Amino acid sequence: MSDATGPALLARIIAHRGASGDAPENTLAALSLAADHGASCVEIDVSISADGVPFVHHDDKLDRCTNGQGLLCEHSAAELDLLDASKGMADFAGEPLPRLAAVFDLLEARGMGLNLEIKPRKGLEEKTVEAICTLVEERWPSHLPLVFSSFSWSSLAMARERLPDTPRGLLVGGIPDDWEALTETYGCRNIHCDGASLTPAQTRELRQAGLGIYCYTVNDPEQAARLLGISDDMQAGHVEDAGVHGIFTDYPKLLAAYLGT
Ligand code: G3P
Ligand code: MG
Repeated sequence: MSDATGPALLARIIAHRGASGDAPENTLAALSLAADHGASCVEIDVSISADGVPFVHHDDKLDRCTNGQGLLCEHSAAELDLLDASKGMADFAGEPLPRLAAVFDLLEARGMGLNLEIKPRKGLEEKTVEAICTLVEERWPSHLPLVFSSFSWSSLAMARERLPDTPRGLLVGGIPDDWEALTETYGCRNIHCDGASLTPAQTRELRQAGLGIYCYTVNDPEQAARLLGISDDMQAGHVEDAGVHGIFTDYPKLLAAYLGT
C-alpha cells in the first residue's frame, strides 16, 4: 500500500464533466472548452462497454445524453463509437461519446489534471476498475495530477489494490458520521462531498484530519467563495486555511472570473 498522506491536490476550480454548462457534458468538446476557459483540472465519469472498453459518460443509460438507447454496458465499443453525444446542444452536433483513451490524450495535450470518477454499472465494479487501471498504467501522463473517486466504495478498494499510488477521494453526499473510519478503510486522502450541506465546522474538522476537501456541484459564485473561505473584504485570490481545497463547477469561466483566479 502507498503510504502517501495529506490532501491529494487537484485545483481550486475543477470543470465538472468538462465545461458542461456550455458544451455537452463529458465530451471532448466540453473538456477542450474547459481548457479554453482556463481550467487546469476536470472531473469525468467513467464506465465500460460490453467488451470492457472504458467510456466517459454519467448515466447507466445512453438516452439522456446521446442518440443511443438503453444501457451503455450492453453496447460494444464499436457501437458506442457511432453515437452522437451532443443531445440538446445543436451547436455540437456530431460530438462523439468519448473513449477514456481519447480523453487522456486530450488532457495530456492540454496539460490538465483529472478527477476520474469510477462509475460502474452495479455488478461490473471489478471489470470497470480493471479496465480503467490498465488504461491508466498504459496511457496516463504521470506528471499530471490524477485522483480516483467513487460512490462505489468497493471500487475504491479495488483501485487501491490495483494502483495503490494513485490517490483516492471518498465520494459522498453529506459527510457521514463515520467519515474518519471510512477514509481510513479505503485509504482516501480526500473527501469529495455535496457543497450544499457541508458546514464550516465539518470543513475545519476534515482539514484538521489532513484530508483534501472538494465540493460538487457549485455553480453559484458566492457559494464557491464561501466554501473556499474567501470573504468579501479579502483580496481576491486569498484563501483561508479553513476553506475547502476546491469545487466542481459546470461553469469554470464564470467562477474563475468571480474569484479572480
Ligand atoms: O465527482 C463529483 C460529482 O460528479 C459526483 O456526482 O452525479 O455528478 O457524478 P455526479
Ligand atoms: Mg461525477
